[in-house]
Amino acid sequence: MARTLTKSNEQWRRAVTRLPLGVASNFRYWGAERTIYVKHGRGARITDIDDNVYVDYRLGYGPAILGYADPRVDAAARAGMEVGGVFALSTEREFRVAERISKMVPAAELVRFSNSGTEAVMAGLRLARAYTGRDDYIMLEGSYHGLFDAAMWYTPMEKWGQVGEPEVQPYSQGIPLGARGFAHFVQANDANQLEETFKRQAGKVACMLLEPIMGNCLGIAAEPDYLRAARALCDKYGAVLLIDEVKTGFRVARGGVQELCGIKADLCTFAKAVANGYPISILAGREDIMRKLGQGVAHGGTYTAHSVSLAAAEACLEILDETDALEKIAAYGTRLRKGMTAVLNARGIPHSFVGHPSMSGLYFAADPPRNYRAWKSSDYAFYDAMAQVLHDEGVLCEPDSREPWFVSAAHDDSCLADTLRGFEIAVDATLRSRIAEKVPA
Ligand SMILES: Cc1ncc(COP(=O)(O)O)c(C=O)c1O
Repeated sequence: MARTLTKSNEQWRRAVTRLPLGVASNFRYWGAERTIYVKHGRGARITDIDDNVYVDYRLGYGPAILGYADPRVDAAARAGMEVGGVFALSTEREFRVAERISKMVPAAELVRFSNSGTEAVMAGLRLARAYTGRDDYIMLEGSYHGLFDAAMWYTPMEKWGQVGEPEVQPYSQGIPLGARGFAHFVQANDANQLEETFKRQAGKVACMLLEPIMGNCLGIAAEPDYLRAARALCDKYGAVLLIDEVKTGFRVARGGVQELCGIKADLCTFAKAVANGYPISILAGREDIMRKLGQGVAHGGTYTAHSVSLAAAEACLEILDETDALEKIAAYGTRLRKGMTAVLNARGIPHSFVGHPSMSGLYFAADPPRNYRAWKSSDYAFYDAMAQVLHDEGVLCEPDSREPWFVSAAHDDSCLADTLRGFEIAVDATLRSRIAEKVPA
């Protein structure tokens, strides 16, 4: 497909005069020549301002679970606007939505709303610290919990030499280095290391912040046994288990990873799939912990439970709970994996899939990774080169191999056919460019 980005390029040159990097979020900048400006999204497709149409597997990093501009959710949101916006007072709908969430997620005994995933996790960590009277927390290498200072430590694996421990670095300038000591990193799926960490930090760990399918790390999943071990160790060492289901919630199952693995968090957070793209997030959990909100622990916000987002959440959660949307999403994801495998096997390219069919990581090594360090030994350069061609062919995945492919209920047979056609072209083009560059396959 011949793709031109003339208008997007012009727009970028204009936008950069007023907006840092020419965008509203750093992650949306893909370079002066490749940054895309969207005209609209409908169903599973996005049209950019040059009228290029893409089958989209980013879905805004997950929210558009029913597809863009779902008429049922948009109608509910319009009706929500009629309520009047925000009042700094409560409405009856809050209880109805909280009831639905508690029905879908047994761990959600009590519920509070916020606007973004970041806000919900930040509130959860504060609550866990208040509840336990401790300050430290444990995170998985490769996990992402949003852009607040306490969560902005990471192990940049691309810089790791595959020996020794990867260095923990701040994710940004402006993070006070003095706060570093509170965060302890462990590798996913290593219960022994987790127990050692709890022991080493005896009595100091308030919380394990656990992203059960790491949505910024291919979709590497915590295995059910590991989740059970994490549950038991949090109980043993008196720490709160906060399962961050911002990406997995209401996507991999009605009750998220907790349902899939039969595990109950003390606190859990949700955001992306809650309202099909309208900004709302959820902090929920055990009654004795949640009751501390308002009993010494602050929580609130001007836009919390905005009438538009709340009405959209009510409609979206009803659809996810009462229709077969999630089953359709998983079935499409499975067909997508099969189609990709057929293309890759025909060319002898070792690969595997990670995560869940509704948010699949494509990994270029035969055995799926169990932790972030394993990603380093995959052929991620192949993925990154292939992604550029996929964009030119009208298939929008994240340009970085670490982001999974999100599927919506609007992905249909025609999307699948277009995707697999583009995928075949992109794989072959990447193989050809490797031969031309004499990169060992
Ligand atoms: C697991 C997880 N937690 C928290 C966040 C932060 O959410 P938001 O971008 O809505 O602030 C994200 C965002 O990708 C996420 O994937």
